[in-house]
Amino acid sequence: MWLLYGANGTTGRLVLSIWQKAFPQLPPPLLAGRDPSQLALLSQTYGSPYEAFSLQELPTLSLPELPRLVVNLAGPYEHTALPWVTWCEKQGIAYLDACGEWRTFQRLYARGSSVPLITAAGFDTVAGEAALFLLRQRYPQARTLHLYIYAKGGFSAGTVQSALTMLPHGYYQWQAGHLTPIPFQEVRQTLQDQVVSFFSATLAELITFPAWNPDLVRLSTWVALPPRYLRWRSFLERVFAWQPFAEAILKLVRARRTPLAQQMNLSAESLVLAKAEEAPEALLLRTPQAYVFTAWTVLRSVEFFLAEGAAPGPASALSRWRDRLWQALPGTWVRWQPL
Ligand SMILES: NC(=O)c1ccc[n+]([C@@H]2O[C@H](COP(=O)([O-])OP(=O)(O)OC[C@H]3O[C@@H](n4cnc5c(N)ncnc54)[C@H](OP(=O)(O)O)[C@@H]3O)[C@@H](O)[C@H]2O)c1
Repeated sequence: MWLLYGANGTTGRLVLSIWQKAFPQLPPPLLAGRDPSQLALLSQTYGSPYEAFSLQELPTLSLPELPRLVVNLAGPYEHTALPWVTWCEKQGIAYLDACGEWRTFQRLYARGSSVPLITAAGFDTVAGEAALFLLRQRYPQARTLHLYIYAKGGFSAGTVQSALTMLPHGYYQWQAGHLTPIPFQEVRQTLQDQVVSFFSATLAELITFPAWNPDLVRLSTWVALPPRYLRWRSFLERVFAWQPFAEAILKLVRARRTPLAQQMNLSAESLVLAKAEEAPEALLLRTPQAYVFTAWTVLRSVEFFLAEGAAPGPASALSRWRDRLWQALPGTWVRWQPL
C-alpha cells in the first residue's frame, strides 16, 4: 500500500487520473491531505480510502495500516518535506516527492537518511537529469554542462508558490564542489527552429546531479520564464524577504489554484536542452506537458519502488533508475543538434 499526500492538488489529481487509466497493476493509494471534503469526493471517484490530517498532526498520526511508501505531493516542500521525512524515518518506511526546490535538497542531502528518500520525481529534475545523463553517456568527457528548461502549458499554484519561496535566496551555479553565486542573466538558445530566451535559475539539478556525477567541473541551469513574471522579478525579489508581504502574495496565489489548473494546456510539450563545453552537439529532449509528465514519473517511480525497493538515503528518482525510468516514460524523444 502507498499513501498519496496532497492528493487534491493539481499534480495529485493528475496522478490519480493517470493511475486509473494507465496503471491497473498498481494498488490503490490511501488518499491523504488536509481537506476532508475534497478527499471524500476523490475517494468516491477512485474507490480509494482516505484520511484527512494536517502536517501538525503527523507526530501523533495513527493509520489503520502502515503504507510501504509515502508520496508527498504537497508543496512548497520547504514546509512539507521535513515533517514527512521525519515521520517516515520514525516508521521505517520510504518517502518519495516531486520537489524541485534546491534548498530543500541541500538540507535532505546534508542530513542523509536511514530510509529511501526518492526525491525529485517531477518533470524538471527527471527531464533535466535525463538530458544531462544522456549527454554524458555519449560524451563521457563532458564535465562543463549547461541545462535549459522550457516547460510549456502553464503552471500550478503550487509551482508558483515553490518558485516564490526560493526567490529571495539568489542565483547560483555549481562549480568544483560548491554552489557559487552568479548574477541574474539572459541567454538565447535555438530549440529546433525557435530562438528562446532563458534566464538564470537555481534548479534542483545543481544539488541532485553532482551527487551522482562527482567528476563534474561546472553546471549552470536556466529556465524560460513568462514575460509577466519577468516584469515583476526584481520588485518581487526585493520585497519577498519581508514576511507579511510574502504571506499576502502566497495567499493570493493559493486562491488562484483552480483557475490556474483550468488554464493549463495538458497537451502542450516541454523541451530541455543540454550542452557541454567539451561536446560538439547539444541534446534536445522533448516530454509531454510538465504536469502530465510528472504524473507519469511519479507513478513509474512508485511502480519500480513497490516491485524492487530502493536503497536508503536521499537520491533522485532518475539517478536510481536511469535509462529504465527514462525509457518507461511515454511521449518523449531525444535529438542531437550540432553546435
Ligand atoms: N518538480 C516538478 O517538476 C514538479 C511538478 C509538479 C509539481 N511540483 C511541486 O509539487 C507541489 C504541489 O504542486 P501542485 O501542482 O499539486 O500544486 P497545487 O495545485 O497548488 O496543490 C498544492 C497541494 O499541496 C497541499 N499543501 C500545500 N501546503 C500544505 C501544507 N502546509 N500542509 C499540507 N498540505 C499542503 C495542498 O493542500 P490543500 O488543498 O489542503 O491546500 C494541495 O493539495 C509544488 O511544490 C510543486 O512545485 C513539482
